[in-house]
Amino acid sequence: MERPAVDQMTKESFYNDAKDYWKDIPATVDGMLGGFGQISGEDINGSLEFLKPFLTCAWAERVGSNRALDCGCGIGRITKHLLLPLFQHVDMVEQTQKFLDEAKQFIGEEASRVERMICRGLQEFTPQPEHYDVIWCQWVLGHLTDEHMVHFLKRARTGLTETGMICVKENIAKKGVVFDDQDSSVTRSNPQLKKIFALAGLTIVKETVQKRFPLGLFTVRMYALR
Ligand SMILES: C[S@@+](CC[C@H](N)C(=O)[O-])C[C@H]1O[C@@H](n2cnc3c(N)ncnc32)[C@H](O)[C@@H]1O
Repeated sequence: MERPAVDQMTKESFYNDAKDYWKDIPATVDGMLGGFGQISGEDINGSLEFLKPFLTCAWAERVGSNRALDCGCGIGRITKHLLLPLFQHVDMVEQTQKFLDEAKQFIGEEASRVERMICRGLQEFTPQPEHYDVIWCQWVLGHLTDEHMVHFLKRARTGLTETGMICVKENIAKKGVVFDDQDSSVTRSNPQLKKIFALAGLTIVKETVQKRFPLGLFTVRMYALR
């Protein structure tokens, strides 16, 4: 009988199976997006629409544009197209060294504004305190167990500046938790993610569904949290 997704997440090989999967994936946009490289532009547009108002509004709680962190950054698709155009400096954290090795070349000239490339699993990563205006986590939190995700988000919160914000952009399961045995990750439902945010002590400031993705893919949601 197949093990339930929650069981799969806590099995010993959950992290190693993911590591093994990613080390064989090409360091390309298509590789980062599971063969759906063509959605990258629409994905970035949706993220820009979501994030930009926080940086440009006139209210006192305006999010700063000094420094962002790209979590599970891969080759730096988001760093290049979303974060470097909006922030002075970007740091990147990623567990597959070969993706970071490719990042400088992929990002190009603007890579000079990337201050740190950190090769570490998010389950073991703690940001510098009060350092980031935005911590962006996209298509990576499904690689953490529920427990590690709660702890990671709690640590991420300590890495925010006073008006800083954590952004999460993830696939959404219709119900419960769905395990993917190809890349050893889970896809959580909206209520399941919200439960984890609450356990991490985070409040949702804004929540949006990504528009204009091809039919047949998971729904994708963006959350701004602090
Ligand atoms: C689906 S790709 C997304 C990459 C990037 N966020 C993007 O949207 O272009 C998932 C990335 O997460 C990385 N990853 C997997 N497990 C991780 C972990 N535990 N900690 C940090 N990164 C991880 C993979 O190596 C891969 O680069």
